[in-house]
Amino acid sequence: MFQSIKWRLMLLYVLLIVVAMQFVSFFLVRNIEAFYLERARTDLRTRGAHVVRVLDLEMRRGPYSRELAEAHLNNLRARHEDAIILLVSPTGQVAATSLNPAAEGLHGLFVQGPDYPAIIEFFATQEPVEARWEDHTGRRFYTLALPLSGILTQGTVREEVALVYVREPLDETYSILQEVQARLLNATLLAIGVTLLLGTFAAQTITRPLQEITSKAARLAAGHFDMEVKVKSGDEIGKLAEVFNYLTAELRKTMAELRNDKTKLEAILTQMTNGVIALDTHGHIIHANIRARDMLNITEEMSSAHILELLNLGDLARLLTGSGPKVAETELKSPYTIAIRAYGAPFHSAEGEVSGGIIVLQDITEEARLEQMRREFVANVSHELKTPLTTIKSYAETLLAGALDTKDVAASFLSTMSEEADRMDRLIKDLLTLSSLDFQHVRMPMRPTLLDELILDVADKLAFSAQRRNLKFRTNFPEDTPVVLANADKVEQVLVNIMANAIKYTHEGSDITVSLSTVGDMVRVGIRDRGPGIPLEDQPRIFERFYRVDKARARELGGTGLGLAIAKQIVEAHGGRIGLESEANEGTEIYFFLPRHTLPSTGQVS
Ligand SMILES: Nc1ncnc2c1ncn2[C@@H]1O[C@H](COP(=O)(O)OP(=O)(O)OP(=O)(O)O)[C@@H](O)[C@H]1O
Ligand SMILES: [Mg+2]
Repeated sequence: MFQSIKWRLMLLYVLLIVVAMQFVSFFLVRNIEAFYLERARTDLRTRGAHVVRVLDLEMRRGPYSRELAEAHLNNLRARHEDAIILLVSPTGQVAATSLNPAAEGLHGLFVQGPDYPAIIEFFATQEPVEARWEDHTGRRFYTLALPLSGILTQGTVREEVALVYVREPLDETYSILQEVQARLLNATLLAIGVTLLLGTFAAQTITRPLQEITSKAARLAAGHFDMEVKVKSGDEIGKLAEVFNYLTAELRKTMAELRNDKTKLEAILTQMTNGVIALDTHGHIIHANIRARDMLNITEEMSSAHILELLNLGDLARLLTGSGPKVAETELKSPYTIAIRAYGAPFHSAEGEVSGGIIVLQDITEEARLEQMRREFVANVSHELKTPLTTIKSYAETLLAGALDTKDVAASFLSTMSEEADRMDRLIKDLLTLSSLDFQHVRMPMRPTLLDELILDVADKLAFSAQRRNLKFRTNFPEDTPVVLANADKVEQVLVNIMANAIKYTHEGSDITVSLSTVGDMVRVGIRDRGPGIPLEDQPRIFERFYRVDKARARELGGTGLGLAIAKQIVEAHGGRIGLESEANEGTEIYFFLPRHTLPSTGQVS
């Protein structure tokens, strides 16, 4: 209970009151005692002197009987029943006593011993003596011995008197003192009561605000940052309340900033294209953003050891101590194959200790694919160039070795060499076209173009090769010819590439249908043949450079696998797209879309 400030204050108040009252009563009682004792002594002296005067007078007048003297003494003594007056002979024997119960039986006694210190001392010094005496019950008296010489008569007996002994109790004085003490005690108790009452209020003015601050601080610690205490005064407690309010406001601000930062960070982590995983020092996953979850297919049971192993990053200890591999590249199979580059690094707490590890996952599938394509491209180009060159070289060597002399053979060799050179020339031209399309170096002026005319032109140009294979071109054009916004030369190249393919790869004697239609704001051109079709697994790759379904056959037909790649580049440069529909043994339709041109009345059409 005394742990509380309130009770300590109360105890302090009570102690103060008790101590103060003790001092007050000590001095007060002593003063009152001294005052009353002095008064009692003065009374006693006055009475003693009066007794001496009266008796002296009586004894001088003539014979003075003991009875008379005793009657006088009785009148002269104080009215207290324990007050006595004795007349004592020079031998110390009581000659007369006042007539009251306390004096009864004293007559004739020899006064001696400690009961009569004043008399004993008087006989020793022959001087008036004042003395205080206490009886065996503790009652206190003032006693006085005064000289008086005279004679008392008792019939014929004469008795000499040497002194008057007056004794008065101090009961009154001490009862007054007792009374005073009792009142002081009452006053003290009352003061303590009042102090306790007022002290409670006084203490509450201190403890209430403290209690309020304490309970609010506890709620603050529990995470309620909207706490505020009322500042009711400018004293230390008021200051404390102000500081508390300032503290909570600052805390609120800091928490808001932290929350803000956290949200920002979370947003960044969520939106990141890279996967991020954070591990603690025990290897538990603290955080994994959506991308990382997608990439690794992270489940609740998945352990970090498993993840590190999966990513080829070694073990946790090596990641956290910073030794061992930090970057690793690997391929993940699930749910689809992706190439990943993983960076691992420890992160540190504010104290500089390692508090976990961060793994960043970069999806390098596209990068790896492009790299792969680049390698294939170089290999393909070299190969495509090498084959005709080898042919030309071996034919040239054969000619030099003597075949030149045989005219027929020489002519056939030279024509093959020329064909191979043409093939190289075509290849290089195709590559240049692709390269210029890649770098968008070629400026492609767009004009409103009538597609049907263009198609018929191309069909004318290819009529000879079509005829050789006994093929027929059919058209399927709408009533009003669609006009596209395009570069006629380039679109012609697209048509040549696709239609030449159709001629090359279809069955002899079948037909090729070219259709035109309008779809929304695009015009669709479809070139359908009745050939063997393109197998499903090859379909997605057919527009890649150098991709050929049946390499041997395509080469035999003079193809390098660049035709459709060029067509795709051109169509896309026009803002269109190219695609195919093909079924095995049913034929193939290669189609492309070009943006439609809404013909203005004065529009120029090429
Ligand atoms: N209509 C078609 N029917 C069946 N296969 C086709 C058809 N068109 C293209 N292909 C296949 O797609 C491959 C790629 O065609 P692409 O036109 O790009 O190259 P190419 O014809 O072989 O050579 P290039 O056109 O450069 O002379 C061809 O090799 C062929 O195997
Ligand atoms: Mg082709």
